[in-house]
Amino acid sequence: MRKIQIFDTTLRDGEQAPSCSMHISEKIEVALALEALGVDIIEAGFAASSPGDFESVKAIADKVRNCSVASLARCVKRDIDLAYEAVKGGADPRIHVFLATSPIHMQYKLKMTEEKVLKVIDEHVRYTRNLVDNVEFSCEDATRSERPFLVKAVETAIAAGATVINIPDTVGYTTPTEMYDLIKYLKTNVKNADKAKFSVHCHNDLGLAVANSLAAVEAGADQVECSVNGLGERAGNAALEEVIMGLVTRQDKYQCELNVNIKKIYATSNLVYKILGLRAPINKPIVGENAFAHEAGIHQHGVLANRATYEIMSPQAVGIPSNSMIFGKHSGKHAIRDRLSTLGYTLTEEEMNVFFEKFKALADKRRKVSDAELVALVGVEDKYEEKEYQLDRFTVNSGNKSSSSAVVRLLVNNQLIEKVALGHGPVDAAFNAVDKIIKGSGRELDDYSIRSITDGNDALGEAIVRIKFNDAIYTGTGLSTDIIEASIIAYIKAINKTL
Ligand code: KIV
Ligand code: ZN
Repeated sequence: MRKIQIFDTTLRDGEQAPSCSMHISEKIEVALALEALGVDIIEAGFAASSPGDFESVKAIADKVRNCSVASLARCVKRDIDLAYEAVKGGADPRIHVFLATSPIHMQYKLKMTEEKVLKVIDEHVRYTRNLVDNVEFSCEDATRSERPFLVKAVETAIAAGATVINIPDTVGYTTPTEMYDLIKYLKTNVKNADKAKFSVHCHNDLGLAVANSLAAVEAGADQVECSVNGLGERAGNAALEEVIMGLVTRQDKYQCELNVNIKKIYATSNLVYKILGLRAPINKPIVGENAFAHEAGIHQHGVLANRATYEIMSPQAVGIPSNSMIFGKHSGKHAIRDRLSTLGYTLTEEEMNVFFEKFKALADKRRKVSDAELVALVGVEDKYEEKEYQLDRFTVNSGNKSSSSAVVRLLVNNQLIEKVALGHGPVDAAFNAVDKIIKGSGRELDDYSIRSITDGNDALGEAIVRIKFNDAIYTGTGLSTDIIEASIIAYIKAINKTL
């Protein structure tokens, strides 16, 4: 069976999307999760785009050992040099250079003739190949490029040393049959096609990114570029979890092998949503709340008789927690570590100690702790270095005939500071009290949401707060059986990130 490589671009194309920026520690966290998931290539960023991007690409390349780490670069020598400096410490460093090949991009954006484009490709791919052996070249807007010219561009890149040729559907314009035909056409008409691997990179403007990627695989593509939860420019990129499960579930059709440990799909998806303060739409394939739910009587009847009547894959296969396993305050660390690993989470000793403390605090309040609550407790933010402000205690008072008030006490550099404030409700009052303690201004509440992780009056509540500050979005998540406490914790975590 042929091998299909999964190229993840969550940290580059995904992170480029509005409200999806991540802190370097979060990017490293995601990269390690992708490595554990088993993707073949992690595009860690665009090193030349900012010093912050350079630092994170370098940190990821230096840390990740089991897959290739790539940086994007324009056909500009400074970009390529910076990409090289960032990835050179990696296990199998890749530089991904790109240049547009469609008439509209060449005329209006690049202001280059076809001859000039071919010359620039040749010069920069050659330059890159002198630095690394693993060179990917992308013909930006390939699906709107003229085929004879696209063939020339691909031939030039391969002759100059590109080892992977990527065919992006940059604006999400193409259809599955067109994509199938395009890959076949290139593999047949590019003279040196056998000297490189072919890849696709599909955007989702018409909701066809996954379908187009699978069509490309069927036509002979060797690599699929995708991102966790489909994050990316505009409507996003092909969703990694959907591409992978499409190839795995329909192995009969695609006849290919992947490196991926699909058990870790849910954990990886959840991690990315959590970092960004987002939640999967309920009907999102593979990871949405309803992806494996059966409501209609006929369906329930069928599933009870045989799950395969209405389920083409099992939720457990992708690591989705079931509520069949319940833990309590007498549960041991070993059993919990075991369960977390079944759910796709591998924690270090230190992380496990922090986790177990959180678990015991919850188990003290709730008699039963479910899989879903365990998953919610695996937080990324505990590792966040900045913890300038921490909640010490709070009291709120609210009623339907009076305005709400809150007293909040925070620990700030080993000093306790307490303030009182009024508000339109208990959360507003508590946030106002926090604002009186926090130094500096310019932070704006962008979004606030709360949900319960499980059923019942004593359910664990998860609050997500998004703050806008200096044109960037900072997210905090708080968990508690008390929703006001969850909200204050989330607010403070988001504030800490702005510092
Ligand atoms: O969508 C696109 O064309 C890209 C390239 C840089 C690969 O993201
Ligand atoms: Zn893209």
